[in-house]
Amino acid sequence: MHPGTAWALLRLAVKGQLISGECVGHFEQAFAKYLSAAEAAAVSSGSAALALILESLGLQAGDEVILPAYTCQSVPGCLQSLGQVPRFVDCDPRDDNMDPGRFSAVLTARTRAIIATHVFGRPCAMESIERFAREHRLFLIEDCAHALGATIKGRKLGTWGDAAYFSLSLTKPFGAFNGGMVVTNDRELAARIRSKIDALVPLPRHILWRNMLSAYALYWLTRPVLFTSVLYPALRLLSWFDRDLISAYNSTFRSLLASRSERFKLSNAQACVGLLMLRAHNGDMRSRAEKVASFRDLCARADCPLPGDAAAEVDASAYPYFFIIKHPRRSELARELLRRRIDTGKFLMRDCAALFLGTADCPHAAAAYADSLQIPVEHCEPSEMARIIEVLKSHGSGEGA
Ligand SMILES: Cc1ncc(COP(=O)(O)O)c(C=O)c1O
Repeated sequence: MHPGTAWALLRLAVKGQLISGECVGHFEQAFAKYLSAAEAAAVSSGSAALALILESLGLQAGDEVILPAYTCQSVPGCLQSLGQVPRFVDCDPRDDNMDPGRFSAVLTARTRAIIATHVFGRPCAMESIERFAREHRLFLIEDCAHALGATIKGRKLGTWGDAAYFSLSLTKPFGAFNGGMVVTNDRELAARIRSKIDALVPLPRHILWRNMLSAYALYWLTRPVLFTSVLYPALRLLSWFDRDLISAYNSTFRSLLASRSERFKLSNAQACVGLLMLRAHNGDMRSRAEKVASFRDLCARADCPLPGDAAAEVDASAYPYFFIIKHPRRSELARELLRRRIDTGKFLMRDCAALFLGTADCPHAAAAYADSLQIPVEHCEPSEMARIIEVLKSHGSGEGA
């Protein structure tokens, strides 16, 4: 959390401007400027932002949308809530992003759009995806929930398609007490989206308070004293049920927070936090990239395997999000890391083809879902990195296990 956040919120509370005020407009302008995009429009969640884009592009019930099988379940959930049909494609196991070579197999006369998710902030093959979209006259929507600040050839993600959406939810590195943002270079589309946002009701005060309290609870629980006395014992317990902090948070608190199918205006308080975070974002990205680079370097020097690390495929400067490895015995690895006081994440993305259709058509997505482990390298001190390396070395790459 940005150090000035509490004071800035207190000032807004004293002025009675937690819900409405001028920060929202400033945040939208700063967001658009950061991406070099024409327009940005803020709303209460990434899912609400996606729904507004789909409606404003004129998609109807029964229209089909191509999207990755390996994604957050709220994305196909949003399509289904609008009566649209998700057409899942498998991912490329090298970077876990959707494989454009598989688009033709799911294309039909009803296909209207592609949602290109930059999984874990790793840029999708946008040039091929854009070419396919243009050839088949499909709308192209970028899912940048993980990708604020990432680039392809110097061009920011979020500016490649007809529109993009970002999530500002608490489990993201850019988590402005939940929230979402639509970005587009199409001013007419932006005007349609804005008129829909203008018709929304403000974020209810109790939802803002719940968002703020859960953000602060998460912040304090991860400070050393409360981590040792409260969170760590709880995480050890959860690990025996193969759960982790994010999955526990998602299945309990998150459903209590602003329901993702509901849509509200973004509050002034969230926009104020977003502005503070945006100012610090390039610096945050740089320090994350430096930590990841030094971890990879230490691993190389210690001859430590990093199975499934997409380092070779991804430009590190365009990589703002989670550090992931894959391991066939990832639960065992996670438990051992937790025993050494390193908390990891397992259930970030899902195999949505299996989840929504019950099919096993997307084996790479299924494998990514089963084997991926997020290691919080970007927050680790050298001594913690050394502990991670010891555990990774003792488990090897898992091949032949
Ligand atoms: C890839 C991806 N897309 C979309 C979303 C939805 O964002 P929100 O939770 O803000 O509705 C998420 C959230 O976890 C996500 O990870």
